[in-house]
Amino acid sequence: MFDFTGHIALVTGAGRNAGAGMARALAGQGAAVAVNDLDLGRAEDTCAQIEQAGGRAVPAPFDVTDLDAVRAGVAKAGTDLGGTVDVLVNNAGIPADIGDMGYGPFRDLDPAKWRTPVEINLFGAMNCVHTVLPGMREAGWGRIVQISSGAGRVGLGMGVALYGSGKSGVEGFIRHISQEEAPAGITANVLALGLMSNAGRGTDTSGVAAGIPTGRRGNPEDAGAAVVYLASPEASWLTGQTIDLNGGSQTR
Ligand SMILES: NC(=O)c1ccc[n+]([C@@H]2O[C@H](COP(=O)([O-])OP(=O)(O)OC[C@H]3O[C@@H](n4cnc5c(N)ncnc54)[C@H](O)[C@@H]3O)[C@@H](O)[C@H]2O)c1
Repeated sequence: MFDFTGHIALVTGAGRNAGAGMARALAGQGAAVAVNDLDLGRAEDTCAQIEQAGGRAVPAPFDVTDLDAVRAGVAKAGTDLGGTVDVLVNNAGIPADIGDMGYGPFRDLDPAKWRTPVEINLFGAMNCVHTVLPGMREAGWGRIVQISSGAGRVGLGMGVALYGSGKSGVEGFIRHISQEEAPAGITANVLALGLMSNAGRGTDTSGVAAGIPTGRRGNPEDAGAAVVYLASPEASWLTGQTIDLNGGSQTR
């Protein structure tokens, strides 16, 4: 089960934390992985971890919010790995400069901060989906996994309205893509993560952490295992859904 031999996966923002866990997990199941990150050094670190474990990976450093860079990066990854990207994991969702995240009550936020969290989560995902779809359609097979957050599922009074807007927006986008592309053998689903072990930069997450029924935050391996399932050949009848992976937190 869950054999990715012959498949090429692109994981965005995979230079550390959850994205790195997803890249490692897919490579562990036999996928060749293009490890995207804005930061080349981080992408190389994840590739080194994958290669050390006997897997195959290449760094794919580009900015997901730059469509031309995405097109060039995806083409290069295909050439480097000898095929076409047929698994896309849109994980990049936290701006490189956490100061651009637009944390705080919306009423207090400078309009100059509004775009960045929406840009990376919504337009970043659109850029990647638009770029990989032709190859997936030609292959008659593809998997798109979008990483979202509890902040895209419920309203939270902790100053994450802009981030939540980007996440809710991209969830809607993926639902439509799932309907448009299902006849072509392409599935598109959302994995909405709860509080992860690395969370807590820029906003107070202690209240959310205290409310996790399983008593712990998520880790990169939790995220990787879920992505493996959603992207697997076996998950061909699962599309257009949002799966909450959050230790049992009530997000509805
Ligand atoms: N950390 C959490 O608690 C948590 C909770 C819910 C959802 N999520 C989601 O999980 C995903 C990963 O979060 P994380 O905390 O592991 O992030 P992170 O900030 O630890 O790592 C993300 C990586 O993305 C890279 N990156 C940033 N902007 C980029 C861009 N424009 N193009 C390419 N790469 C870029 C960064 O360099 C960084 O290495 C995000 O979509 C986030 O919204 C995280």
